[in-house]
Amino acid sequence: MDVWILESAHAVAVKAADICGELIQRKPDARLGLATGATPQALYAELIRRNRQDHLSFAHVETFNLDEYLGIGPDHPQSFHRAMRDSLFAEVDIDPANTHLLRGDSSDPVAEARAYEALIKRRGGIDLQILGIGRNGHIGFNEPGSSLGSRTRVKTLARATLRDNQLGHPDFEEPIMAITMGIGTILDARALVVLATGAAKAKAVAAALEGPLAAICPASAIQLHPDATVVLDPEAAADLRLTDYYELVDQARRRLPRTSGRI
Ligand code: PGA
Repeated sequence: MDVWILESAHAVAVKAADICGELIQRKPDARLGLATGATPQALYAELIRRNRQDHLSFAHVETFNLDEYLGIGPDHPQSFHRAMRDSLFAEVDIDPANTHLLRGDSSDPVAEARAYEALIKRRGGIDLQILGIGRNGHIGFNEPGSSLGSRTRVKTLARATLRDNQLGHPDFEEPIMAITMGIGTILDARALVVLATGAAKAKAVAAALEGPLAAICPASAIQLHPDATVVLDPEAAADLRLTDYYELVDQARRRLPRTSGRI
């Protein structure tokens, strides 16, 4: 695991955009796994800026989102489809046909989940998966107790998630289920970039990075991935025990010449 503790949430977004940008430059038709929620918003803003000012093109990029609420369609104001269009897709030169999200309004969510798995495989797999971490340690909507080998499927949302994601929409019943990539699906991505900012994430981050590998903290599964980069601000990193070591790694990195790969 490559752990970066940076000075601010903005620095976290810039680092994550650097990683995405390097991949897209190397592989213009890269397949990105994307997440919704508050954390990646600054990353998406930075990618939009680079698309406009630095000519970072998404023309051949393909995207796969982690999850979607069950029971709501792509035009629903609270859907992740809508969130992705508003926060990224409508603002960059991506081809909408290359943006894939699970359909929460599918009449057969089990078949929808299976078809999504098959689509990811058919397209050659995800090169880089962006992940946030829930306060309860979830990744995607893989709530505590999820199988660490799970595939894309329907999951019931945890109470903590329902509270955190309160949609507060008067006109519809809040979803209590979602379709989500499984933890096994996420681990199949060639690289992971995990982002967390703010004090509310400190406990989940510590459990994920330094706790036991366990279904009670689904994000702990990232410990199994051979190419996981975790980018944190100081508040999210506050409960880590190996901070001194992460700082040493950072110092050591600065002494190295640029290499062709990750050290
Ligand atoms: P957040 O959500 O970025 O809105 O905190 C993270 C998550 O639930 O995965």
